[in-house]
Amino acid sequence: MRIYQSEDYQAMSRRAANIISAQVIYKPDCVLGLATGGTPVGTYKQLVEWYKKGDLSFAETRSVNLDEYLGLSPHHEQSYRYFMQDNLFDHIDIKPENTHVLNGLAKNPEAECAAYNKLIQDLGGIDLQLLGMGHNGHIAFNEPGDDFGLETHLVDLTESTIEANKRFFESRDEVPRHALSMGIKNIMNARRILIIVSGEEKAEIVKKAFTGPVTKDVPASVLQLHPDVTLVGDKAALHKLVEAGVQVCG
Ligand code: F6R
Repeated sequence: MRIYQSEDYQAMSRRAANIISAQVIYKPDCVLGLATGGTPVGTYKQLVEWYKKGDLSFAETRSVNLDEYLGLSPHHEQSYRYFMQDNLFDHIDIKPENTHVLNGLAKNPEAECAAYNKLIQDLGGIDLQLLGMGHNGHIAFNEPGDDFGLETHLVDLTESTIEANKRFFESRDEVPRHALSMGIKNIMNARRILIIVSGEEKAEIVKKAFTGPVTKDVPASVLQLHPDVTLVGDKAALHKLVEAGVQVCG
């Protein structure tokens, strides 16, 4: 695992964007696995900036997103489809038909999940999967205790995730209780993984995930078993790893 420590959120975002753009330049028709949440906003902003400068094109790139809230339409401002359009897709040259986000309004969630697994397979698998990490160590919506063997599945969100995500909604009651999410198996099948973390509130869980045992209690700890993971974080999120003696690149 490579670990890059950046000075602050902006530098972390720029470095993550550099890794994604290297992937897109190296293989223009690559499959990017994308994440939502607060952490990747700066990364997407940087990619948009480079696209607008003419340094980068996504014309052949395909994307699959990690997850979507169940019950939210793609036009709902808190849906992950809306987030992706707003933060990235509407501002770059990726073809709309090449962007894939789980359908939060699927009548049959199990069938939607099965179709998504097939889609990932038909696309040839994920070349680079971008991840954030929840305060409880979740990746996508794989919550503590979830089976590492799961593919895309229907999830009951934990209280801690509902609590963390209520900042995006008008009230806690409005946070959906269920989501559709890629499973750990889909994530571990990606050829390369880029995980980004920012802020002091992630420092403890980052240390646990990467210096502690691989355990279902900390889903991100499974990444220790992946052969090609890059962790990019700011100083605030990585300082406990560094204090524990883990080597990081500056
Ligand atoms: C989002 C996702 C989540 C977030 C995680 C961290 O698609 O899958 O696992 O990456 O909740 O969220 P932030 O970045 O808001 O701290």
